[in-house]
Amino acid sequence: MDSYNQQLSQRYADEHLATRLREALLAEGLNPDQLTLDDIAAIDQLHVGGRRSSRQLADLAEFLPGQQVLDLGCGTGGSSRLLVAEYGVQVVGVDITQPFVDVARWLTEATGLTARCHYTCADAQQLPLETASFDAVWCQHTLMNLPDLDQGLREIHRVLKPDGRLLLHEVLQGGNLEPLVFPVPWADDASTSHLHTPTELEQQLRLAGFTPMFQQNVTEDALNWRKKHTEKEARGQIGILTPQLIFGPRFLQMGKHLMANLQQDKVWLMESVWKKY
Ligand SMILES: C[S@@+](CC[C@H](N)C(=O)[O-])C[C@H]1O[C@@H](n2cnc3c(N)ncnc32)[C@H](O)[C@@H]1O
Repeated sequence: MDSYNQQLSQRYADEHLATRLREALLAEGLNPDQLTLDDIAAIDQLHVGGRRSSRQLADLAEFLPGQQVLDLGCGTGGSSRLLVAEYGVQVVGVDITQPFVDVARWLTEATGLTARCHYTCADAQQLPLETASFDAVWCQHTLMNLPDLDQGLREIHRVLKPDGRLLLHEVLQGGNLEPLVFPVPWADDASTSHLHTPTELEQQLRLAGFTPMFQQNVTEDALNWRKKHTEKEARGQIGILTPQLIFGPRFLQMGKHLMANLQQDKVWLMESVWKKY
């Protein structure tokens, strides 16, 4: 792994992640080896909007049971499992952060979904996957970490079957071009934050061989979701299973900064569907 990816991966998770999560699940009275998707929803959706936003994107995908989906930058595998359990597809999750891949495998086994959900630790820009092997690629809050977006999109195009779909729920550069407030959940500073404007992303996607089918700015939804979540936190309605277990105590500050960047129009969240041609 090159030093950029090594640093990024170490920043996302340490080797004690699984132990920390197991202890927290036990403290909540849960069996870490026998879980439901509801039990772990607070720690397996590492994107703004939680399962609601994943379902909203999945509803646009027109998945057919048994289709092969690649979850690129799958984190702890929450969306992979949701797609398998609720949409009947088969998923391969790929992530550069080994402790996330380890946790994704464990949680998938604990929720009884291993037969239809597999994980590999690899770089999205150099996928160890066969050409034309997926019906869809699912990419949620991942592209903003890729230093070489062109190469990432070329790889996505390569592994998709003809007419395959690319489903994006991504963090983009907003209308306000002033510098972001850092750290944010995906980066400590601008060196690992690769935000593109919607126009730039569309240009790169078209060049890589994709046609747009649907595009929607979901920033307002994200802000409302985050506001409700913050209110719940203030009322003490959130237990110990929170993303802080994954990202550490600094997640509070990163979350506040993300909100500020969204409110100040520096960051947008977009959902979109693209077809390979
Ligand atoms: C904000 S998290 C989102 C995780 C997951 N998609 C979700 O929504 O729950 C970003 C993820 O992208 C992964 N990632 C970043 N750069 C990557 C790369 N070059 N190849 C594969 N995964 C990468 C990180 O390790 C991290 O798990």
